[in-house]
Amino acid sequence: MDKIIVEGGRPLKGEVVISGAKNAALPILVSSLLTEGWNTFTDVPELMDIESIKLLLSNLGSRIETEGHTVRIDSSGLNNPEAPYDLVRKMRASILVLGPLVARLKKARVSLPGGCAIGARPINLHLKGLASLGASIELKHGYVEAFADRLKGAEIYFDVATVTGTENLMMAAALADGVSVLRNAAREPEVVALADVLNQMGADIQGAGTAVITIKGVSSLQPVSTAIISDRIEAGTFMVAAVLTQGDVTLVNCNPDHLEATIHKLRLAGADINIKGKAVNVTGGNEIVSTDVQTQPYPGFPTDMQAQFMVLMSVANGTSLISETIFENRFIHVSELRRMGADITISGNTAMVKGVPYLSGAPVMATDLRASASLVLAGLAARGTTRINRVYHLDRGYQAIEKKFAQLGAAIKRIRE
Ligand code: EPZ
Repeated sequence: MDKIIVEGGRPLKGEVVISGAKNAALPILVSSLLTEGWNTFTDVPELMDIESIKLLLSNLGSRIETEGHTVRIDSSGLNNPEAPYDLVRKMRASILVLGPLVARLKKARVSLPGGCAIGARPINLHLKGLASLGASIELKHGYVEAFADRLKGAEIYFDVATVTGTENLMMAAALADGVSVLRNAAREPEVVALADVLNQMGADIQGAGTAVITIKGVSSLQPVSTAIISDRIEAGTFMVAAVLTQGDVTLVNCNPDHLEATIHKLRLAGADINIKGKAVNVTGGNEIVSTDVQTQPYPGFPTDMQAQFMVLMSVANGTSLISETIFENRFIHVSELRRMGADITISGNTAMVKGVPYLSGAPVMATDLRASASLVLAGLAARGTTRINRVYHLDRGYQAIEKKFAQLGAAIKRIRE
């Protein structure tokens, strides 16, 4: 398994180009299942998770052509309703094929995704919503089996604002008979991006980005050519890196409108952030100010930025409280940061982070995608050498992260094993 070695203490300087958003690309590639003919998606990030979803889609019968960041998909030949355990277990977002399969093939047999390091990750709201649209749902031998001759529009209320739950049901309802209303829907930019693509395909979806999304079902959808939005979490990760290393970094192809909460908190933490259209310049102040954070559904502070922000607070000038309200086990990075000298105490879903003068490099273990990114950040700031094991977690969601940091002046390299 590959390792990443970081020599800390160098301020990052220069420009970094932000890649397409993993969490927009995944549902948008899946939406091709609703069409017949060639879809062309550009600015698709080159990530392990994208490879996983392409493998699953081709397994279902889609034809896929990839050239760099452009992926073309033709699902005319969609003929297999089954998403097997071996594919779904690698990436739980595979559950996104459930709604489109029932809408297109009238049936689906999708392996239950199971939990992951950060939590149980149930899909009860996906299933409850699909049943509201008229599908019959059975759980058998670790699989979801769903059938519906024709899905019918319905009112669906989400007990919790679920991102992929909203996306799954938006895709299913797009081809249902009649009007559906999703209430307490997720408002993330990736949900809006998917709705935009579905509307380009001929769907009639209003309200994406608000808590109430209205979908008027249509009889068919047409293939499109469209670009994937930029990744706000990758952008936020590089913003934190700039502040952490007292650097001066300009992010290119970034959408600051998707990062309001993150930018607000980084400014409170002492960052100087200047927005020039799709470019954002971030410089670290002469001190890092302790700042409290509570993760919330969008537009609140993103849970996917919690670990990265905690690294910044671990070397701030005071004590910060960081509350994780979305997932029940998303402090896995804390034990590794402690080994680097961080002073963090956990009580329930809140971490009390007492700033220390500096972190010290150490061998550490990556466990989930964003925790892995936080260990790279810690290594960039630490005194000495940090060796991060199991970086395949990183490769799931960050395209060649060590190359991008090296271009900004970091002493970082990957050892292939
Ligand atoms: C999406 O996961 C993202 N993944 C996650 O990013 C992100 O952390 C998460 O949204 C929250 O923003 C993709 O978009 C592919 P949820 P998702 O359903 O949709 C509960 C990353 O690092 N819930 O919005 O799986 C759930 O337990 C990943 O890129 C139910 O109870 O998250 C959680 O507490 C990690 N029942 C809350 O809702 C359900 O049926 C939010 O989960 C569904 C969810």
